[in-house]
Amino acid sequence: MAILMKGKSLALRIQEEIQEKAKRLEPKPKLGIIMVGNNPASKIYVNKKKDALESTGLLFQMLALEESIPQRDLENHIEAMNQDPLIHGILVQLPLPHHICTQDILQKVSPQKDVDGFHPVNVGRLSMGMKPYAISCTPYGIIKLLEEYKISIEGKHAVIVGRSNIVGKPMASLLLNQNATVTLCHSKTTSLQSFCSQADILVAAVGIPKLIQASFVKEGAVVIDVGINRTTEGKLVGDVDFSEVEKKASYITPVPGGVGNMTVAMLLSNIVNLASGQ
Ligand code: GUN
Repeated sequence: MAILMKGKSLALRIQEEIQEKAKRLEPKPKLGIIMVGNNPASKIYVNKKKDALESTGLLFQMLALEESIPQRDLENHIEAMNQDPLIHGILVQLPLPHHICTQDILQKVSPQKDVDGFHPVNVGRLSMGMKPYAISCTPYGIIKLLEEYKISIEGKHAVIVGRSNIVGKPMASLLLNQNATVTLCHSKTTSLQSFCSQADILVAAVGIPKLIQASFVKEGAVVIDVGINRTTEGKLVGDVDFSEVEKKASYITPVPGGVGNMTVAMLLSNIVNLASGQ
């Protein structure tokens, strides 16, 4: 039976450390949060982030904008936050409405305030093995989780399912920078099962409930589940068929209580690092 990788307890510990660090900082680290429209999932995520900021003693300024806002106006709001010396990090919650070009918007955020690590400068620095101002929170949290459980990365075959800019691609860069052999699979990959079953470290980040079955998993593999899917009965399930895969894996993350908690903890860590110029 696999060992559970408890993201929730590691995230709590990281949050306590951040709280101590934040006490010594003046002015207090402050995050500017921009949310456009009323996406219900985004609302839940943003509320989670706000709760975590408050309980850690960090500040935030929330800007909730109309769904119909012109791109130019949104850019002006970002520019105002770029210029505000009391705002240390800026988060534009994704997805944005269809009339807005997400790539343009992410480029408007100053790389030095890019708490999500989504700006091309930070993505480029990460992919070149240079230090970015911030690293995308979910993959960064996964690296911290692997470190916590002393899972070595060097020389391992890491297979990532999902090529998003938020998780899959930065995950590939981070693992490659630590000398893993990386295979990045996606929706057009043929024989996904044969790639997955070769993985020493398998990261599932596709948003398809229980896509990863036990037959996809090598005996003793480390399985990281990034999926947060809601079933018709309202239950949260990951991209991994947990009850079957845990019998084969050596380590596995639960959903909930795994990667999701780490994402929020790394966001807090990124803000404090940006505020303290690290
Ligand atoms: N939407 C889904 N995940 C994320 C994230 O990590 N950051 C932002 N800004 N939006 C998201």
